[in-house]
Amino acid sequence: MAKASLVVLISGGGSNLQAVIDAVENGEIDADIKAVISNNATAYGLERAARANIDTYIIDHKHYPDRESFDRAMIQIIDPLKPDLVILAGFMRILSDVFIDHYLHRLVNIHPSLLPKYKGLNTHQQAIDNHDSKHGASVHYVSHELDSGPIVIQAEVSVLEADTAATLAARVLKQEHVIYPMVIKMHTDGRLTYNKDQLNLDGQPLTHPLIWKDGQLTY
Ligand code: GRF
Repeated sequence: MAKASLVVLISGGGSNLQAVIDAVENGEIDADIKAVISNNATAYGLERAARANIDTYIIDHKHYPDRESFDRAMIQIIDPLKPDLVILAGFMRILSDVFIDHYLHRLVNIHPSLLPKYKGLNTHQQAIDNHDSKHGASVHYVSHELDSGPIVIQAEVSVLEADTAATLAARVLKQEHVIYPMVIKMHTDGRLTYNKDQLNLDGQPLTHPLIWKDGQLTY
């Protein structure tokens, strides 16, 4: 089987990008990262990509009159790379239907909450304010609604009495770095497919998310 092609979209630090780069470099994920695209020229993730000899592109959304034209500019860069998977890794722009339809079934995102709880921003503070006993992160295929679409893996993290949004975010992020490469590997190995709104793992419907907790994956 030919190596899978990946394209990663970032806006910031790119620690999830780094986790994917590491998994590719150590052979865990059999794929090439064809490009890293950032809407933010100062994103530290661009340095991570350059260090790994990955082509980088900066497309500043502020130079486009609307979401659709920005998304079309990204499509023009991404399409020739023929990605098997487009990976949103801390990409802080809302995507238009033009983009989502174009890459439907091969577009994944990581979100720092146990979706459907806490879509959008400030998820860690919300978990603390609501006295949740557990919080975490979700990796999902992208559908048209923000932070929606079938979830593949959720990492669960206990919320501690002394947690601040920052301490909780740091523990969640550590687990993000584990579950995102796992899902990408399942996809590139052909074990995981998303078609016509149906998620399948190893040929069986995945009707609820896999849970990653205390270093173990359960269904
Ligand atoms: C992560 O918390 C991710 O879940 C969210 O944005 C953050 C990105 O962090 N979508 P990084 O840029 O990968 O370090």
